[in-house]
Amino acid sequence: MRKTIAVMTSGGDSPGMNAATRAVVRTAISGGARVFGIYNGYQGLVENDMFEMNKRSVSDIIQRGGTILGTARSQEFMTPEGRAKAAENLRERGIEGLIVIGGDGSLRGAQQLADEQNVAVVGLPGTIDNDIWGMDYTIGSDTAANTIIDAINKLRDTASAHRRIAVLEVMGRHSGWLALITGMSGGAEYILVPEELYDLNEIAAEIRSMYEENQKRYVLIVVAEGAGSAIEIGIRLEDKTGIETRASVLGHIQRGGSPTVMDRVRASSLGEQATLALISGVSNVVYGVQHGRIVNVNLYDAVTKKKQLDPEYIRMAKALA
Ligand code: F6P
Repeated sequence: MRKTIAVMTSGGDSPGMNAATRAVVRTAISGGARVFGIYNGYQGLVENDMFEMNKRSVSDIIQRGGTILGTARSQEFMTPEGRAKAAENLRERGIEGLIVIGGDGSLRGAQQLADEQNVAVVGLPGTIDNDIWGMDYTIGSDTAANTIIDAINKLRDTASAHRRIAVLEVMGRHSGWLALITGMSGGAEYILVPEELYDLNEIAAEIRSMYEENQKRYVLIVVAEGAGSAIEIGIRLEDKTGIETRASVLGHIQRGGSPTVMDRVRASSLGEQATLALISGVSNVVYGVQHGRIVNVNLYDAVTKKKQLDPEYIRMAKALA
C-alpha cells in the first residue's frame, strides 16, 4: 500500500475540480494515507510548493468553481530538467504517488513524469472541453454546457425580436464537443466545429432563402473557437446575406460557476476511485466515465489517441435544425 500521496489541479480550471480534490483528500485519509496538496499545478511541483492536507482542508469547497489548489501552465515542467526536479521534490517528502486532475496537456505531463521519472500517477479528467480519449465525460463539462445553454436562451430572445442572425463563440480550441452539445440542445441552425469543414457561402445562401421564404424569424449559429472567430464569421455573414448579424464571445465565463449536481457527483466518485486505486498500488491510468460507468483507461492511450465527436450527435444536430 502507498502511504503518502499528493494531488494537484493543472491546466485550465474546470467546475468540479474542488469536488474531486475533496474526494481525493478524504478518501486518502480515511484509507490511512497522508496526502499533500500541490499549489499551482506542475509549476508548484517544480517549486516544491505543497502542504499536507487534512479532512478540514477541503471543507466548504464542493460547491465552488475554480480550484482551491490553483492551477498553471508551467514552461519549466515542459523540460526534462523541470520534470526531474518535480520528481525529486516528491521523493524528498516520501510521496509515493500523484493524482493529477486536468485536461489532455496535464495528463500528457503526468505520462512524461511516469515514463522518465518512474513516478506513480493516476489521472482524473478535469476540463470543460470533454476531449479525453476513452471516456464520454470530463469533470466540468456539464457545468460549462449549462452555462452556455443559459446564454443561448438569452440570445434567442433578442435575436428573435430583431430577426437577426446570432453567432455565439464557445470554447474548444481543438474540440467541438461543447459547441456540438450546446448547439444541439439549444436548437442552433448551424454548429461549426474544428473537426468538420464548413462552407460559409453555402450557409449564407441557405439563410437568405430561409428569410426570403419567411421560414425563420432568426438564425442561431454556435461556433467552437477552433473553428473560427464569431466576430469574423458574423461580419462575413452579414456581408453575404444582407441580414443584420450580431456576434457574442462567451469567453471565460464558461469556465466558472458552481458545479452542477452531475459534475459534483461524478467528480466525487472519480476522485474516490482514483485514490483507492493509487493507494492500493495502481498507476498509469486515468479514471473516467463511459456510458454512465466508471472506467479506467491506460494513461498512454488517453494522451495519445484522439477522441472523436459522436457522429450520431452530428447527424442528429443537422437533421433536427
Ligand atoms: O482547455 C480548456 C480551455 O478552456 C479551452 O476550451 C480553451 O481554448 C482554453 O482552455 C483557454 O485557455 P486559457 O484560459 O489559457 O485562455
